[in-house]
Amino acid sequence: MLSYQESILTWYDKNKRDLPWRNTAFPYFIWISEVILQQTRVEQGLPFYHRFVQRFPNVQSLAAADENEVLAVWKGLGYYSRARKLHHAAKLIVENGSSFPNSFKTLLELPGIGPYTAGAIASIAYNEAVPALDGNAFRIMTRVFNISEPVSSSKAQKIIDSLAKEWISKSRPGDFNQALMDLGSSICVPRQPICPSCPLNEGCEAFSLGNFHDRPVKTPKKPQKNRFLLFEVHLSKKKMALTKVSEGNIWKNLYLFPFREFTNEEDWLSEVKSLKKEGGEILERGVHILSHQKLHFFTLVSTSTPSDSSRMKWVSEEELQGVATPAIVAKILQQCKNQSSPYGLMLSLHHD
Ligand code: ADE
Repeated sequence: MLSYQESILTWYDKNKRDLPWRNTAFPYFIWISEVILQQTRVEQGLPFYHRFVQRFPNVQSLAAADENEVLAVWKGLGYYSRARKLHHAAKLIVENGSSFPNSFKTLLELPGIGPYTAGAIASIAYNEAVPALDGNAFRIMTRVFNISEPVSSSKAQKIIDSLAKEWISKSRPGDFNQALMDLGSSICVPRQPICPSCPLNEGCEAFSLGNFHDRPVKTPKKPQKNRFLLFEVHLSKKKMALTKVSEGNIWKNLYLFPFREFTNEEDWLSEVKSLKKEGGEILERGVHILSHQKLHFFTLVSTSTPSDSSRMKWVSEEELQGVATPAIVAKILQQCKNQSSPYGLMLSLHHD
C-alpha cells in the first residue's frame, strides 16, 4: 500500500492544475498568488493575478507605487486591507535591501503574512517542509483523522498542526501542500465529496465511518452587526462626488459617496422620513452584507453641491474604474440606474 504522501503526490502528478504560479520559483509571484487566493477561487483569481503582476512585476515596483494605485489594481477583490498590507510589506522588503525573506520564520515577520501564507511561500518557493493549512487542508485532515473537536478551537488547531508536520512530504513539501489545495477544491469538497475518486479513501476514517458530512465540526458563526447608513449621491455634469474615507473605518482610504451613520434603526428611519417630506429623492432601501456586518442603507440623490465640496473628488462613471471604491459603490450606482428616475441617465456618458 502506498503511503499517504505517495498517494497524494501520485494523484497530484496526474491531476494538478496548470497555474501560472506553479511554473515559477519566484517567491514574489507566489506571495501575490497566495494573497489573491485568500480572497477568491482560482478561476476568479486568475485575471486579478495577471493584472497585478503585469502592473507590479516585482517587489520594487510594488514598493514604489502610490497606495491609491495599488488599491485601484486590487479593485474587485474586496478586503482592501490585504492590499494595503501587501504594499506595506513590499516597502519593508525594499527598505531592507530588497532581499525577499527566505524562510518560514522570516516570512512571518512581514505584515499580512500569517502561518498559512508563510507556509505556502516557504514550501513552494524554498522547498521548506512546513504545512500550509487553509480551509481545504483542514477539511481533508479532519476527515482523514476523524477529528471531532470544533475545527476553530485551539485544541483542534494544535492536533492538526502537529499531524500536518508529520504528514507533509519532506521531499516535495510545496507540491504536497498544493496537492491538498487541489484535492480539497475538486474531490474532498464540503457537501458532496467524491470519495471513490479520492487517493486517500483507503486510510480515511470519516470515509469508513460514513461521517464525512459531519467533518469538520464547525462552531456557529457570531451574529452579524447591523449598521444603518444614509448615502448621498451628488450628481453634476455627468460626474458624481466621492469622498476619501478617513482613518478608523473599514473603508479607510477608499473613495465612497459621503454618508452618515445612525446608531439605531429608528433614528435612521425617522431621518429618511423627514428628508422625504422635504422633497428629497430617496432610493429604495438596500442591504449589503460583509463578513461580519450587515449594512442597511438608503441613498439620497441630489443635484446640489455637497456642503464640504472642496474635499470631494468628482468622477465620471468611466473614471470610476481607476478609483479604489468598496463594492457598495457599484451597488448604489446600479440602484440609481434601476430606478425610474432621471439619475441613471444623468450618469450615463452616452446621453445628454
Ligand atoms: N489556493 C491557494 N493557494 C493555491 C495554490 N497555490 N494552488 C491552488 N489553489 C490555491
